[in-house]
Amino acid sequence: MKKTLILNWKMNPESFKMAKELFDFVSEKTKDQIMIAPPYLYLKDLVNNQNKKSKIKIIAQNVFWDLLGAYTGEISPLMIKKMGISGSIVGHSERRYILKEDDDLINKKIISLIKNDLLAVLCVGETHKDSLNQALIFIKNQLKKDLSKISNSINKISYLSAGRKNTKLIIAYEPVWSIGGGKPTDAERSALIIKEIKKFVKEKHGLDVEVLYGGSVDCKNISSFLKYKEIDGFLVGSASLKKSEISCIINKVAQNK
Ligand code: PGA
Repeated sequence: MKKTLILNWKMNPESFKMAKELFDFVSEKTKDQIMIAPPYLYLKDLVNNQNKKSKIKIIAQNVFWDLLGAYTGEISPLMIKKMGISGSIVGHSERRYILKEDDDLINKKIISLIKNDLLAVLCVGETHKDSLNQALIFIKNQLKKDLSKISNSINKISYLSAGRKNTKLIIAYEPVWSIGGGKPTDAERSALIIKEIKKFVKEKHGLDVEVLYGGSVDCKNISSFLKYKEIDGFLVGSASLKKSEISCIINKVAQNK
């Protein structure tokens, strides 16, 4: 099974020129589908200037839940959809813990994205290097809240996920303590947690969900994660900004087919 690769640029790079150059570099490196989440300011121009042959899907790093209204500073799922954006990351730990987003808000965002036929990439993960058991309790609690009430949209997700790559819900397991480059978690432990996440979502919602690993993934450590069939792909932050790292990651993922 092909692995999914999502590149989260966070608040980088500093100019559109640099973003476009990096985007074109990734486009040329791969014929497989990759998703890139650039900063909001670059989304429109990247979509409009995307080479017709490029298979890269562009997603947002964040989105609001309501479609229009008095929400200063927010961006609507409707707006990103009209712009040709495929979906959004939701519940990234930097939004949860720096910007204080809670599970209720995250849940509303997920429901809104799915209802509007957009992809939701939900990030979950324990904040501390807990025991496996403690980590699973923490993650299942997040999943319970973040995916609550998605049953009304279930037909939409499962219908679309029949052709796996068209799914409207992807989960990224990102242990918060491993985010930021240079602090990857143990691949075997991540595979175990990912297996449990899949089991939980199947039991609670009847969905076969794709689950990625994120947290300090780079050229050196990706091979250890690629060994596990449970890990459906990767959400890459820091390394996705370096050309040498990203081309190495793309090559290793491609060779793994
Ligand atoms: P990192 O970021 O690869 O720099 O650890 C991953 C993420 O925050 O999604």
